[in-house]
Amino acid sequence: MILITGASSGLGAALANQYSKAGKDVAITGRNQRRLEAVAADNRNIQPIPADLANPASISALFDQLKTPPSTIIHSAGSGYFGKIQDQKPEEIINLFNNNILSATLLLKEVVTRYRDQPINVVIVMSTAALSPKSGESTYCAAKWAVRALVESVRQELKAEKSPMRLIAVYPGGMATNFWNIEKDRDTSTFMSADEAASMLIQALTSAQHGYISDITISRR
Ligand SMILES: NC(=O)c1ccc[n+]([C@@H]2O[C@H](COP(=O)([O-])OP(=O)(O)OC[C@H]3O[C@@H](n4cnc5c(N)ncnc54)[C@H](OP(=O)(O)O)[C@@H]3O)[C@@H](O)[C@H]2O)c1
Repeated sequence: MILITGASSGLGAALANQYSKAGKDVAITGRNQRRLEAVAADNRNIQPIPADLANPASISALFDQLKTPPSTIIHSAGSGYFGKIQDQKPEEIINLFNNNILSATLLLKEVVTRYRDQPINVVIVMSTAALSPKSGESTYCAAKWAVRALVESVRQELKAEKSPMRLIAVYPGGMATNFWNIEKDRDTSTFMSADEAASMLIQALTSAQHGYISDITISRR
């Protein structure tokens, strides 16, 4: 079973559709129950479980509802917020950090606590904004850099404990999704579709007995 967060929309929903069509059992999560059910309605083997990943009790309840332990977890939940730092609103910065830093931190804490003795793939979707600074995207870059620091540090903890769990870091470039609804003026016509990014990511998530692909950058042309 594959658990996908941020699957009420965008990349997460596209991953859920493609895995489901390939015959995999999938559990999907997000806050918006109506959109989750719409994704599940098109597919027979998708279980929708609403959860707010910025809330620890909600994350715990999510994992309690899984029918079986997941073999792969793809954390695609996140949100964007942009503009020059002096123009940004404090409450929107707090939302941004909750949806990106807090969600990844609480999710990873729960997953490592529950499953660190199991050979689970934990895929954390960040952004190319986690790899380089971008003017006009300071707080978004700060949030994604924080998640990258989290992932790379927890990797070291798992390695020290000889855990079979694998953390896989994903850095996508621009995708034309609801993510950009907050920036109506942004031209996304040359961005990847969610389906294109999902199919490249699924192809990259391969492993062999003695190796796996640990870091994946999905660049747009
Ligand atoms: N689109 C891009 O250009 C782009 C580029 C690079 C990286 N990314 C990253 O890729 C990931 C997927 O983005 P996307 O383009 O697919 O965006 P999207 O279409 O807006 O989807 C984001 C998903 O995250 C969920 N989410 C946000 N905050 C949440 C929370 N607190 N708890 C639970 N679910 C939450 C949303 O669900 P609900 O609203 O239902 O909660 C939604 O399903 C994000 O991490 C984003 O930062 C996007």
